Amino acid sequence: MTATALYTDLSGYYDLMCADINYQAQSDTVHRIDQFFGNGGKRHLDLACGTGPHIRFLLDLGYQSAGLDLNQPMLELAQQRCPEADFSCQNMCEFQLSQPVDLITCFLYSLHYSQTIAGLTACIRQAHLALNPGGVFCFNAVDKSQIDNASVVSHQAQHANSKFIFTSGWFYPGQGELQQLRLRIEKTENDQTEVWQDAHPMVAVTFAELQQLLAPYFDVQILQHDYDKLVAWDGSAGNALFVCVKH
Ligand SMILES: C[S@@+](CC[C@H](N)C(=O)[O-])C[C@H]1O[C@@H](n2cnc3c(N)ncnc32)[C@H](O)[C@@H]1O
Repeated sequence: MTATALYTDLSGYYDLMCADINYQAQSDTVHRIDQFFGNGGKRHLDLACGTGPHIRFLLDLGYQSAGLDLNQPMLELAQQRCPEADFSCQNMCEFQLSQPVDLITCFLYSLHYSQTIAGLTACIRQAHLALNPGGVFCFNAVDKSQIDNASVVSHQAQHANSKFIFTSGWFYPGQGELQQLRLRIEKTENDQTEVWQDAHPMVAVTFAELQQLLAPYFDVQILQHDYDKLVAWDGSAGNALFVCVKH
């Protein structure tokens, strides 16, 4: 299955899969970060926007938002959720915009979908090009050296007559620039169970490597992955918020 096939198949269930994520808190945090580090402009782009949850909250916070994603069914749901935003089906490693923006976001670790170091480098370069002076590129990321292959997160949801169990976890083989996001979705309806299982190829980096890739383009602050308060990264947590201000 390709990286986006599962999202095509399951775009209708995507929001259910993410029901545990506090998108409002994440978007409020992005807004605070932008107020603190940004250039005061309100043009915003969300990379790998999915069904547009961050865009909805950022529009409501006064941004003029746009989103891009590789998956058309996800974009159609995003457009329904955010009729006032512009969406385009583009690869975040080679996107083009008609006008520069002031804030670029990429959440739920989606920057890792750039798949290779070359793809990640291209995406960083594109984000830099697409930003106005002093603009902010904000995303969350995971450090490959901290991945625990045995650790998974799981949650259940009920929708109409179906019960869903969503399970996800990172897998890193211990070397190289590739890690996997492993997803398993189990849907049970009238005693019939269907299972989707998928391993998405994602680019694997350490935070030191990621900082090196960003340094030619951005001043970088790494924050704890905490949506209640802005605190500097403790140097050891395996996931973090990156705040990158265009040079
Ligand atoms: C885990 S979802 C995250 C969606 C959204 N950012 C969120 O926080 O809910 C990942 C999204 O990345 C998109 N995607 C994967 N590879 C991409 C690429 N190279 N360029 C743009 N979007 C991509 C998928 O289609 C999917 O919608």
